[in-house]
Amino acid sequence: MRRVGVLLSGRGSNMIALVEQARGYDVVLVASDKPDAPGLAWAAEHGLPTFALSPRGIGKPAYEAALDGALREAEVEVIALAGYMRLLSDAFVARWRGRIVNIHPSLLPAYKGLDTHARAIAAGDARAGCSVHLVTEELDGGQVLGQAEVPILPGDTPDTLAARVLTAEHRLYPCILSEFVRR
Ligand code: GRF
Repeated sequence: MRRVGVLLSGRGSNMIALVEQARGYDVVLVASDKPDAPGLAWAAEHGLPTFALSPRGIGKPAYEAALDGALREAEVEVIALAGYMRLLSDAFVARWRGRIVNIHPSLLPAYKGLDTHARAIAAGDARAGCSVHLVTEELDGGQVLGQAEVPILPGDTPDTLAARVLTAEHRLYPCILSEFVRR
């Protein structure tokens, strides 16, 4: 069993999918930069070890050093970002090179960064989707490990499209993470 640590900043629906559909790995730590993240509360309620620390006041280097320490203490082998809304420093990425994955709500390399659904709708795209990729120093730029597509329907808003993509995320992420940890 590979030991996975999940980093999140929000509701954590992808983390829940990773926990509930785990195959070949165990989620051994759920960590957040937002001590009040709903995903963190879910993890704690479900008996998962958690780590919460805000970088506010202590600065990014001290924050990342503490996060790195918590991940190592939990003997994490692979980090899964799941709605983690902070950029990891180049030094952190280098320390964990090849062992950090992320889910991004677009068909990469299209629409890196934020507001992916609004941009896909504005462009008149017929299809949207999500990508699981390796994390490198380049934002949303690492190797794509797997993708899932959904249609963009007439009348879609960023919210309706986001909900459709999110359903696809919850199927894709556990599946690709399982494959990845077996490599
Ligand atoms: C998802 O859309 C994910 O693709 C993006 O942030 C959102 C996180 O949602 N990176 P959740 O916290 O997993 O529910």
